[in-house]
Amino acid sequence: MTRPTKVEVTEVGPRDGLQAEPVFVATESKIQLVNNLIDAGVPRIEFSSFVSPRAVPQLTDVVEVFEGINKTSSTILAALVPNAKGAARAADTGIDEIIVFLSASESHNKKNVNRSVEESLVGFEEVARIAADANIPVQGVIATAFGCPFEGDVPIDQLGLIAQRYSKLEFKGIGLGDTTGMATPPIVRRAVKYLQDTVPELPIGLHFHNTRGLGLVNVMAGLDEGIDQFDASFGGIGGCPFAPKATGNICTEDLVYMLHEMNIDTGVDLQALMAIATKVEAIVGHDLPGQVMKAGPRLDLHSTSSVATAQG
Ligand code: COA
Ligand code: ZN
Repeated sequence: MTRPTKVEVTEVGPRDGLQAEPVFVATESKIQLVNNLIDAGVPRIEFSSFVSPRAVPQLTDVVEVFEGINKTSSTILAALVPNAKGAARAADTGIDEIIVFLSASESHNKKNVNRSVEESLVGFEEVARIAADANIPVQGVIATAFGCPFEGDVPIDQLGLIAQRYSKLEFKGIGLGDTTGMATPPIVRRAVKYLQDTVPELPIGLHFHNTRGLGLVNVMAGLDEGIDQFDASFGGIGGCPFAPKATGNICTEDLVYMLHEMNIDTGVDLQALMAIATKVEAIVGHDLPGQVMKAGPRLDLHSTSSVATAQG
């Protein structure tokens, strides 16, 4: 496989990031952040989710957020949907793309959406019908795809079985979520190769969390297998509220910086992303894990007078 020359970056900060924050971020701030991301050239944004307001109170304003966004044809506005009720709300709202999700492992699926994997899949048949009627494409995510915090390794066949069901439902693609950062490069390569063989009709997107520091190394493994869709979150915030020790996604600025240094085009303005991450830090009121937002790109040089000279 050759590495891609262009990558589609999906910004998941407004959803994966803000769902993990203890505070409710004001609707107006969410709208501004999404508008800033659109202006920065981000091609796809997971702007919120249509889930139970009791499960994730941070994102109850999904409809108001969507209504406030300055839509353009160059940015896909996608939202997470767990069931038919969420799909009906998404269709009524008129979003660009539905992202349905389940977990590969039974115990995390139960924690996250209160049903078995098979129950989720049966529910997706109704989701697919609602989406088709409304002409909305659907991406199917498999969370805990590279390991489950309760069950450990996920049998690779389980990924194949779910992916085949997604294919039958005519989803546009598949997303592999590393919910608690359990992926490693060999695990990523194996899963990606297997799914490229099993469901070649489904383009694969990768969603890594940097919980164990391997986020960007896992991106490299994906790039080497020809993957050209990656999720990331502004400033590196995020995490599933229904998984233990969940921490942030890979950081969008760090990902875009790395891709540009590798001559891989994203169409995204790195300086604008850094400004957005700084704004997010002010909004949530704590330091974010992003690195490039603090250090700047490598050729942002400093004057020699900015540091003291070591005196022996
Ligand atoms: N949007 C809004 N409300 C919803 C909903 C949706 N997509 N799905 C169900 N509800 C409501 C129902 O209308 C019902 O409301 P009521 O009690 O006022 O009548 C209530 O939630 C319970 O419905 P039920 O179908 O029994 O849901 P549940 O309690 O089994 O919960 C989910 C299932 C999927 C709704 C819930 O677990 C959920 O929203 N999980 C999402 C978790 C998440 O977002 N995790 C982060 C992503 S990694
Ligand atoms: Zn995530």
